[in-house]
Amino acid sequence: MIPALERGWGNPSGIYREAQYARALLDQARDEIAETLECSAGEVVLTSGGTESDNLAIRGAALARREAGRHIITQATEHHAVLHPMEQLAREGFELTVLPVDAEGFVDVDAAVSAVRDDTILVSIMLANNEIGAIQPLAELARAVKERNRRTIVHTDAVQAAGAVDIRPAALGVDLMSLTAHKIYGPKGAGALYVKRRTPLEPIQLGGGQEEERRAGTESVAQAVGLARALQLAESERTARTAHTSQLRNGLWRELQEQVHPIRLNGPADWARRLPNNLNVSFPGVEGESILLQLDLDGFAASSGSACSTGSTEPSHVLTALGLDSDVAHSTVRLSLGQSNTEAEVEQIARSIGAITTRLRALSPV
Ligand SMILES: Cc1ncc(COP(=O)(O)O)c(C=O)c1O
Repeated sequence: MIPALERGWGNPSGIYREAQYARALLDQARDEIAETLECSAGEVVLTSGGTESDNLAIRGAALARREAGRHIITQATEHHAVLHPMEQLAREGFELTVLPVDAEGFVDVDAAVSAVRDDTILVSIMLANNEIGAIQPLAELARAVKERNRRTIVHTDAVQAAGAVDIRPAALGVDLMSLTAHKIYGPKGAGALYVKRRTPLEPIQLGGGQEEERRAGTESVAQAVGLARALQLAESERTARTAHTSQLRNGLWRELQEQVHPIRLNGPADWARRLPNNLNVSFPGVEGESILLQLDLDGFAASSGSACSTGSTEPSHVLTALGLDSDVAHSTVRLSLGQSNTEAEVEQIARSIGAITTRLRALSPV
């Protein structure tokens, strides 16, 4: 990104030399993203991140197909970047079906297909959940939806899946796919929406003709360069990265079970169906936010529920969808492992959580 910031300051739509350099960097970044996703460069729309990609996919597809039908489908544990635009469409006259999930967070493929009707224009199901790590059977789901109604547009939010599972859209069988750079060590404010050729999409952000009329606004060259590189690395290092985090994650879960009672794992128990870096754990009787504050003092950065809604007093809608009651949901901490984490840190945080929960339980026995 440094050369792009230092020398790629020209407007990629300009005709002067500096603009041409910026355009070349932008084109190269788009080509690299397309190469990683095994799609064509024209199928990559650069955005400001996962939220914008989700909004563009959902509103853009629904509005483009509104003459064909008004029925749209999603599922209960989606990120709010999907749920809120869906709910907005429902307020504007679309008919919204929100599929439930089972106790581990999975959508039932048969139930999803039964919900698809002749007038269903859009189905949006995330590839992997940000709070509980559940990896949906998306390829199977997309195939079944298309068999039921081949004109239904299938979107997936693959923001959390990049670097952990196969995100090639053709292999998944999706028409639209959202990505963001900052979950894979790229810059914040950089994302992409994969748009399969000939998928109807109305632009949401209006103005200039950038991104082949699909997203107006001067492109952020350095951000695109960062996204392209982050995606390349996430894909080429996928096996090594997932092996590292899953080994640490499994060790952390073993340690926690030894240190803390009672304790409860939320989300998939089958590690193969869960993001390798994700643990979501409830410590009944202890406030999750209090654990986070103490962990911060001990030097550990963790979050409860969704990082985006930290500070909210509402229990996580994801945990609620799994059937957790509000008290248990509030006693939950999400622990994500990264490439720089070590086994020594896993032992330290397990000990730290053991001591914190013992202390907090003694203070407020429930
Ligand atoms: C599953 C999922 N979708 C969408 C987003 C939003 O992405 P961004 O923060 O890049 O807008 C996030 C998290 O940030 C996420 O975890």
